[in-house]
Amino acid sequence: MFVLGIESTCDETGCSIVKNGKEILSNVVSTQIDLHREYGGVVPELACRRHIDVIIPVLDEAIKTAGIALNEIDLIAVANTPGLIGALLIGLNTAKTLSLALDKPLIGVNHVEAHLYAAIMSCDQPIQFPCIGVVLSGGHSAILLIRSVGDYLVIGQTQDDAIGEAFDKTAKIMGLPYPGGPEIEQLAKTGNSKAYFFSAGRVKGQPYAFSFSGLKTAVLYAVRGQNLQGSIENVRLQDIAASFQKAAFDDIIGKVIKAAEEHGCRTVIFGGGVTSNCTLRDSFSEANRELEYIWPGSGLVLDNAAMIAGLGYHQFISKGGDTLSLEANPQSLF
Ligand code: KG4
Ligand code: ZN
Repeated sequence: MFVLGIESTCDETGCSIVKNGKEILSNVVSTQIDLHREYGGVVPELACRRHIDVIIPVLDEAIKTAGIALNEIDLIAVANTPGLIGALLIGLNTAKTLSLALDKPLIGVNHVEAHLYAAIMSCDQPIQFPCIGVVLSGGHSAILLIRSVGDYLVIGQTQDDAIGEAFDKTAKIMGLPYPGGPEIEQLAKTGNSKAYFFSAGRVKGQPYAFSFSGLKTAVLYAVRGQNLQGSIENVRLQDIAASFQKAAFDDIIGKVIKAAEEHGCRTVIFGGGVTSNCTLRDSFSEANRELEYIWPGSGLVLDNAAMIAGLGYHQFISKGGDTLSLEANPQSLF
């Protein structure tokens, strides 16, 4: 079964052809990073206009690379939630038009859930369920119990900034370009992670919830050369980056390992752009060598349409397709 995936939730336009939920025949992504960089973050109106400009060329390239004809597509899967409403509508209307014109079924896919499916798709072994799912992206930070594909229990979520957002905002405070995650990771490599005593926030009564906004404010003071005790001399951005990153990752790692123990899970599945961070991956392995960590493979970490096509296939097999009245929903359904 050939599934066309369409992704346009934020600042990447993607189309992909995936065979039987697993075999990626093409995975084309047109990124808008350069467009938004001068503003230090995503400008929704600009994002929408760019999606309109590139979605058909991206679709054409995905079809051509896969070596199939348009009418050989068996299913059209589209990310219809969560995301920027205008951006979602461009992918959704493209999908509906194709569905109508080609007379092929349509299915809406949750982008956040698809990030987790990206790791499942990348893994050659069968996954041992139940397992822990960890989403670390620009828009979400969440720990979930995954009982099977499609059956999730949210254990903890961010109460303020998502982890990727915290990286991006912190980078902006430090004068680094957008997106800030890779910039901070790079800078942190030459920094001393013990130079500053930063820590992520705690949420009363919710041991698995995340809060990163206070951490970002602590960085703001450090960049200004101040802390609660007085002024700090010789501010080194490398040290701030390393200390920020360690504080954020220590918090995540501690909560994920605790959640795995509490729920008797041996496997942890990761998804979202922040999971491309090598320090994060190494730190998990160092913190607990007993757990099995499944990371998204290359081309599947950042926003892409292969994960949408892959998850769409599974959903279609288990519950059938959606109708043309499928709507875009900017809020996550999780
Ligand atoms: O999953 P994603 O592509 O988009 C969303 O669904 O949000 O994630 C993008 C986020 C951005 O905030 C970006 O700064 C972050 O992932 N990111 C990183 C790294 N690479 C991308 N964060 C930390 N370290 C990285 N190496
Ligand atoms: Zn994403």
